Amino acid sequence: MRVDCTVNGEPRVADDVWEGESLLYVLRERLGLPGSKNACEQGECGSCSVYLDGTLVCACLVAAGQAQGAEVVTVEGLAGGGAAVEGVADGGPAAVEGVAGGGLAGEGLARGGPGADRLHPVQAAFLEAGAVQCGFCTPGLLIATHDLLRRDPNPSDARIREALAGNLCRCTGYQKILDAVHLAATRLQASASDPSDPSDPSPSGPAPSGGRPAPCRPAPALPPGTLEDRP
Ligand code: FES
Ligand code: FES
Repeated sequence: MRVDCTVNGEPRVADDVWEGESLLYVLRERLGLPGSKNACEQGECGSCSVYLDGTLVCACLVAAGQAQGAEVVTVEGLAGGGAAVEGVADGGPAAVEGVAGGGLAGEGLARGGPGADRLHPVQAAFLEAGAVQCGFCTPGLLIATHDLLRRDPNPSDARIREALAGNLCRCTGYQKILDAVHLAATRLQASASDPSDPSDPSPSGPAPSGGRPAPCRPAPALPPGTLEDRP
């Protein structure tokens, strides 16, 4: 079957899609957007999080056909959507692979390397706070953080833990992720109150989804401190 949708502001078409294919497969394998990661394919890890018509979803649990006529925003579109997406992606080691890969690429971006000026403040905050190690979880965390900060511009630690409970990270121990979310929140609030600040004061994209990825399994409420204890 054919799937027509809008991805990061651009009309996209995928042909010969099997009825059982996931949106994640279509994005990664048919549309050339590898930013959303495939880790568990079971809705457990959040590494494939994208927006589907403004709702944060796990793309691995969304049938490709459900994206027909829909608007999809992936991590590649976070820096501005539309034309900005191309700029970010074209930056080579820039945003998507840089953020996802961390390491030297991430360092280059944090220091103003190619494409750095196009990173969304959430992306920049993750780099600067050292919240990226292997980077496999990072695209999902970026999208989930983006969604959280649209709903709550100044979230508490508990709120962050709750919002990101569906995004598993095996490397960072989560503290630096918390630091990154607070840093992004501070920057976004500062830019919102300063009209001369050209940075994006409110994350672009569709309307806030109002919660965790709908098709993902609901994360259980976690007591304080539990997040750091995850493997
Ligand atoms: S790959 Fe989709 S939730 Fe893990
Ligand atoms: S940085 Fe490796 S899984 Fe999160």
